[in-house]
Amino acid sequence: MGLVLRVAREDEAELLEGWRRDPESGGTFNDFGLAAEPTSDAPGPAGGHLVVEVDGDPAGTVTWRETRYGPNEESRAFEIGIALLPAARGHGYGAAAQRMLADQLFATTSVHRVEASTDVENLAEQRSLEKAGFSREGVIRGAQYRHGAWHDLVGYARLRSDG
Ligand SMILES: CC(C)(COP(=O)(O)OP(=O)(O)OC[C@H]1O[C@@H](n2cnc3c(N)ncnc32)[C@H](O)[C@@H]1OP(=O)(O)O)[C@@H](O)C(=O)NCCC(=O)NCCS
Repeated sequence: MGLVLRVAREDEAELLEGWRRDPESGGTFNDFGLAAEPTSDAPGPAGGHLVVEVDGDPAGTVTWRETRYGPNEESRAFEIGIALLPAARGHGYGAAAQRMLADQLFATTSVHRVEASTDVENLAEQRSLEKAGFSREGVIRGAQYRHGAWHDLVGYARLRSDG
């Protein structure tokens, strides 16, 4: 599997905006009924996004953003997210990409914790996170409002000390 995470090229801005506007591309668990957000800046200390490229073709995106459990630097963590195009799902790319993103965040920052959460019904993402080395931590009740209702999420994390 030739999977890499790379910075989006300038000439891909329109393609990525198209994915963001298309509920099919983001998947039902990423559909908040909101207008597409403008493309964020290049990866920086507080977050960013990268293109998931499989065998030379863009197949989706991964994102990360800073979250904090205290005011000191040591209590900073990253929350990651992923959306693969429908044709790229179910081949193990999600697990590989999320493992790679966590590895890169541990290698390039001092954070101790990389976390992700997903709908209790999103079994593919739960399994994908487990395959990427994340541990299930518990249910986050009524956390996300989508499609006219509050949804429970499952929280996952990988710690630097998990290896
Ligand atoms: C969720 C997502 C990232 C997973 O990536 P993926 O490459 O499709 O998934 P993977 O192949 O890495 O792993 C999926 C695992 O879940 C399993 N799975 C898939 N659907 C399942 C289901 N309905 N019930 C139980 N297990 C399921 C697969 O069998 C596989 O496990 P296995 O390798 O042990 O057989 C991808 O499907 C996606 O982008 N979906 C749309 C966006 C999304 O939901 N993002 C997360 C929102 S928080």
